[in-house]
Amino acid sequence: MYRTHTCGELRIENAGQTVTLAGWVQRTRKLGGMTFIDLRDRYGITQLVVDDSAAAELKETADSLGREYVIQATGTVVERQSKNPKIPTGDIEIGLTGINVLNKAQTPPFTIEDVSDGGEELRARYRYLDLRRNPLRKALELRHRLAHEVRNYLDGKGFLEIETPYLIKSTPEGARDFVVPSRMNPGQFYALPQSPQTFKQLLMVAGYDRYFQIVRCFRDEDLRADRQPEFTQIDCEMSFVEQEDVLDTFEGMMRTLFRNVLNVEIPDPLPRMSWYDAMDNYGSDKPDIRFGMKIHEITGKVQGKGFSVFDSVEYVGAISVDGAAEYTRKQIDELTEWVKRPQVGAKGLVYIKYNADGSFKSSVDKFYTPEELKAVADYMGSKPGDLILVLCGSRRKTQTMLGVLRIEMGNRLGLRDPHNFAPLWIVDFPLLEWDDETQRFYAMHHPFTAPKPEHLDLFYSDRKEDLEKVCANAYDFVLNGTELGGGSIRIHEAEVQQRMFEVLGISREDAEYKFGFIINAFKFGAPPHGGLAFGFDRVCALFGGQETIRDYIAFPKNNQGRDVMIDSPSYIDQEQMDELFLASTAKKDNE
Ligand code: AMO
Repeated sequence: MYRTHTCGELRIENAGQTVTLAGWVQRTRKLGGMTFIDLRDRYGITQLVVDDSAAAELKETADSLGREYVIQATGTVVERQSKNPKIPTGDIEIGLTGINVLNKAQTPPFTIEDVSDGGEELRARYRYLDLRRNPLRKALELRHRLAHEVRNYLDGKGFLEIETPYLIKSTPEGARDFVVPSRMNPGQFYALPQSPQTFKQLLMVAGYDRYFQIVRCFRDEDLRADRQPEFTQIDCEMSFVEQEDVLDTFEGMMRTLFRNVLNVEIPDPLPRMSWYDAMDNYGSDKPDIRFGMKIHEITGKVQGKGFSVFDSVEYVGAISVDGAAEYTRKQIDELTEWVKRPQVGAKGLVYIKYNADGSFKSSVDKFYTPEELKAVADYMGSKPGDLILVLCGSRRKTQTMLGVLRIEMGNRLGLRDPHNFAPLWIVDFPLLEWDDETQRFYAMHHPFTAPKPEHLDLFYSDRKEDLEKVCANAYDFVLNGTELGGGSIRIHEAEVQQRMFEVLGISREDAEYKFGFIINAFKFGAPPHGGLAFGFDRVCALFGGQETIRDYIAFPKNNQGRDVMIDSPSYIDQEQMDELFLASTAKKDNE
């Protein structure tokens, strides 16, 4: 037996017992004739002591230990002279009688402490060392706990966990596919699933009316803090349900996760907001409702007063920032530059200061009387001391920019406490989204989402204005400004599915080639069905109070989609290329 206890286990009640521990040397300290060793494993840290009177050989071994050596240590549990209330084992130490060095270690390239001196790139290269640190260990423990609770809850509701294949055909979730060449089928490729969407629908056709899977998905898209090229979904589908049944089931799941894992009660029922209200009031389909600062349309209030910038646009909107009238000229200039960055894309920023003494100062003083500015301020519910920030342009674009500005101001004002949770459902999404550039409609969610039954007439219309009005029974679960999950009631009739492909400009032949299997399946008795998927990495990160999902994934990719630890992606040799009938036009680094 390598050990009798873990390094997190021993307490004062164990005093007097002879124990053997095994783990990594966190650090050693010499104090007079004594050597103290902090021994660490996944469960905690225990202090070991080799005192003055120990055998020379033992003293020598203790003195030879370096950081991260793996050792086995035997001794007696004794009460400590000076206790350490910061750690659970802080009342005791182990008076050693023997040390067995199981493996030496090179000095690690960064300190394995809660706050490490290693930069991100270095820690990524030695991820297995980084994973020894407490914050990462806790993140993975949280992930495990959440997965366990999800399985428990869904099992209790009669869901079956069923695996679906990874080597498949393209699934249209809006990103690029990762593809895998097939050696046995020259010139042909599999696509890795962007989600198991089509398979879970086929499982519904097959009669497995409650399916779930904690499943890896692959998307070749630009990466961000909350996006990885391979990520995990809690993917679910149900038959013989309406939107209400789906929302009810998964609101229940999230409530259980919050209660059992964080001991947090979320509102019952959760608030719901239509997509239109979310866009109009928050400039985002994933509004952070932990704070107010809603967007107000003020087009009617400011047009016709001679200010041509406002007069020439479709929409003027503003947010009122509590207590920010004290912003200096310099701060406002900086904010103006901030909104002009390509990530926001505004042309400029108009401000109205509602000073604490009730007077007004604005960048458009020339065009508006104080009374007119006060009318705007009153309309927005602003009070003396507030700062009103105004953007203008086309409606949705400007609202989106105001939404980004709102989040930024929320951050600057410290209104986004990660331990305060404000979940909600966004519902009533438009089915389709027009793209000016390509002059065609795209599915707002994905092409399997059903139009609301009462909008079927509009759906069969050929007019763009009608199609833009079609809504779907689609829903997103949003938490603190992040989309945690989304889903919809699906099309279950072959003919409606055909029409959807037609609206999306996918020819009959193309639809047949890409999705013939699902259109066909619908001809064999498809039940009404719907479902959703949560981004499991995002659930983990937000439950852990973080926005970045990387630390909640054992072996993540960096922003270039690389695993710098195993150095992947990498070139393959010519023989393998030939076998797969591949020719590369890219140059290798050393060519
Ligand atoms: P959707 O594309 O909205 O829906 O994805 C569901 C959830 O997955 C998470 N997510 C991601 N997480 C990390 N990295 C990524 N690159 C990434 N992309 C998405 C998000 C998102 O809400 N098949 C549908 C679901 C359905 O209709 O049932 C789907 O995949 O949290």
